[in-house]
Amino acid sequence: MSATIYLDNAATTSLDPSVLEEMLPYMTTNFGNPSSTYTIGRTARTAVETARKKVADLLNVTPTTLYFTSGGTESNNTVISCAINDLNCTHIITSAIEHHAVLYTVEKYCKKLNLSYSFVELLPNGEVDYHNLEAQLSQYQKDGKKCLVSLMHANNEIGTLLDLNYTGELCNTYNAIFHSDCVQTVGHYPIDLASIKVHFISAAGHKFHGPKGVGILYISKEIKVNPLIYGGGQERNMRAGTENIYGIVGFAKALENAMVNYSNDQHFISSLKAYFKKMLIDTIPGVTFNNPENSLYTILSVCFPQVTEKEMMLIHFDMAGICVSSGSACSSGDSGSHVIKELNTPKNSATIRFSFSKNNTFAEIDQTVAIVATVLPKVKSLSTVL
Ligand SMILES: Cc1ncc(COP(=O)(O)O)c(C=O)c1O
Repeated sequence: MSATIYLDNAATTSLDPSVLEEMLPYMTTNFGNPSSTYTIGRTARTAVETARKKVADLLNVTPTTLYFTSGGTESNNTVISCAINDLNCTHIITSAIEHHAVLYTVEKYCKKLNLSYSFVELLPNGEVDYHNLEAQLSQYQKDGKKCLVSLMHANNEIGTLLDLNYTGELCNTYNAIFHSDCVQTVGHYPIDLASIKVHFISAAGHKFHGPKGVGILYISKEIKVNPLIYGGGQERNMRAGTENIYGIVGFAKALENAMVNYSNDQHFISSLKAYFKKMLIDTIPGVTFNNPENSLYTILSVCFPQVTEKEMMLIHFDMAGICVSSGSACSSGDSGSHVIKELNTPKNSATIRFSFSKNNTFAEIDQTVAIVATVLPKVKSLSTVL
């Protein structure tokens, strides 16, 4: 088998060696509990608060608005619980292409508490229809319902981007609470939270070369809410449980790296994506793309024509050492991706998500295109037989 080509960076990224180096002392000598009052406890406390300050500076907020969590899923769950239980939201506006950490949580709470939710309409390319969002906000306000709007900053399958500023303004106009799942964008774009009217954002360290199992929840100063998890008084009573110190230290270091190198990395990754797209167009007749022009620069969602055996295609890629994710087999009859189902993808096509990082190379893209070209005829001929 050839060497692995990792093109699934929207699923997770490799830990940067400089991040590991920063984390290691807190896994070994500095193992104290930040709640302990003796020296090694205080060292751990300092590490947590230094990390919080670093992250706060990078996002342009005060440290007291940031809470460390176990990742995007927990942050999203906390927001939805808080909005319903503490902020009296009785209706949730979200979209059909949110991550399941939002979608399933919304469904669960609304069903249990007999609350309502609706999906904002999407344009054919998966972008939010802001006219529809405004119409819904206006209608629910007239109906006397307090709304939570939960819309992701970038979609993790097709990379569509939300205008955070505009959505924040709209929510503000209609007195709605606004949450954005920024798991795919924190660490990939500079985000100035002080300039956006957003009440909550969620992020996860493992999407930008930080460790897994650590994330943040931003809660704007004007909001007072209760925790999702009860127990000790950690995270200023907002998130019980002994802090994941090395994770927290790693999160801050990874975010710092990402922002210091943002321009270079963004430019490099965007050119990898553009090159890959061009090479596919030149090599694969009929190939199409699910990303709108202005989309997250790390993701290319590719729709391969006349493939009904997406699983077989993934097996071929895996055997060739290429790590990618499936979007869905569009119309091949399997359950597929809930995101791709919302798009008008060509019949009998298979969507594969390729997602890039600073560690990929142009040579890997060349190899991947060559492998795609050899795999496609196999899955096409197979699908003809089936
Ligand atoms: C958009 C989005 N939200 C939430 C999550 C969940 O984050 P975590 O894996 O940190 O719980 C992910 C991870 O895939 C994601 O892509």
